Amino acid sequence: MNILDFAKRKCAGENISMVTCYDFWSARILNQTDIDTLLVGDSLAMVMHGYDSTVHATVDMMATHVAAVRRGAPDKFVVGDMPFLSVRKGLGPAMDAVMALMQAGSNCVKIEGADGQLDVMAHIVESGVPVMGHLGLTPQSVEAFGGHKVQGRNEGDAAQILQAAKAVQEAGCFALVLECVPAELGRMVTEQLDIPTIGIGAGASTNGQVLVLHDMLGMDAGFKPKFLRHYAAGERTVADAVNHYHADVVNGAFPSAAEMYA
Ligand code: KIV
Repeated sequence: MNILDFAKRKCAGENISMVTCYDFWSARILNQTDIDTLLVGDSLAMVMHGYDSTVHATVDMMATHVAAVRRGAPDKFVVGDMPFLSVRKGLGPAMDAVMALMQAGSNCVKIEGADGQLDVMAHIVESGVPVMGHLGLTPQSVEAFGGHKVQGRNEGDAAQILQAAKAVQEAGCFALVLECVPAELGRMVTEQLDIPTIGIGAGASTNGQVLVLHDMLGMDAGFKPKFLRHYAAGERTVADAVNHYHADVVNGAFPSAAEMYA
């Protein structure tokens, strides 16, 4: 997968698969899979660091995780998320952040929102760095939204998202993540853009899908928003394995003779 393949996939009507990845060992596993794209999302602030929102991700944090993922997944297309306010502090700091993510191993950067930052986006693209947009529920604006809520439910909001989608395409973005919008809006945006859309909670008409790895693996059994499908019972599997190991240690069943040095 490279930047040109995204457009080709949309033209060919072939969906793009993307999943988040934040660390070396899961990157090693994902590198062996068929997945098209890895997203080092700023959701790592929540999933890996336990914060209550993505607002806590920093450029250093993102670059550290991108580098770990690149070491584990040398063959995959890696998307690096520009963290909270990193494109809102002027061109210099924005370009420093882009440089940090690209030098850490990203193939492109992803930027949430459109208003007030289209020029920065265009400048990054002109500088030779591919940019993926992100509209709908943009989690860095969670405080402004009053929570993690579906966006674009009424006609005015839907029209605004559609207009913003056209603007990020105009700014040079090569793809667009659409998060938590009604399926019909996901379809409209996808049909009206030339660039591919990648949805999360945006219905089945987008040109691809993205999920948080830990969510789709069921690492938090209780986390099951409407758009999420659990592909494994990860929380149960890990807890059972660790309990099994614990019992073996307590009972003296581990290690066995075959697991000892002579
Ligand atoms: O940070 C992230 O994981 C994301 C996805 C939810 C699209 O941006």
